[in-house]
Amino acid sequence: MNPSFSTTINGQNQEVQVKSNQTLLEFLRDDLKLKGAVEGCSVGVCGSCTVLIDGKPVSSCLTLASNIEGHEVTTIEGLSQNGDLDPVQQAFLKHQAFQCGYCTTGMIMAVKGLFNAHPHPTEEQARDYLSGNLCRCGTYKEVLAAVAELANE
Ligand code: FES
Ligand code: FES
Repeated sequence: MNPSFSTTINGQNQEVQVKSNQTLLEFLRDDLKLKGAVEGCSVGVCGSCTVLIDGKPVSSCLTLASNIEGHEVTTIEGLSQNGDLDPVQQAFLKHQAFQCGYCTTGMIMAVKGLFNAHPHPTEEQARDYLSGNLCRCGTYKEVLAAVAELANE
């Protein structure tokens, strides 16, 4: 029988039912229709599927959906408040820290996790935190510029 339990997704407490072998990425995209986290490598290498669990970034392709019982999951869809983009999203826009955008939702969620752990991160901390997020368009310099601006606020 598929597990059902209570969890919080983007601030909404809800009862969910997941398949026992379903990844969190599959559950978010297929069942909840939250398409922001995207599949790149499927093996925990690229970071495009990054979401937050209890404020910490995880690769949702490697996380079983059944593991979110009692936890708080945040996806890119949960960042804007009352129609206003999150400051990280605004900084990405300002610094044009994306090209094709495929990695961008995962990158933004990883940056959110960075600031949750380090409110004023150094560049070294930022590089370390983002080392699991790959961008084939090579926007690393712009991403670090967005992070640096936020770190100095
Ligand atoms: S799709 Fe999850 S890390 Fe690449
Ligand atoms: S913006 Fe294209 S992969 Fe990062």
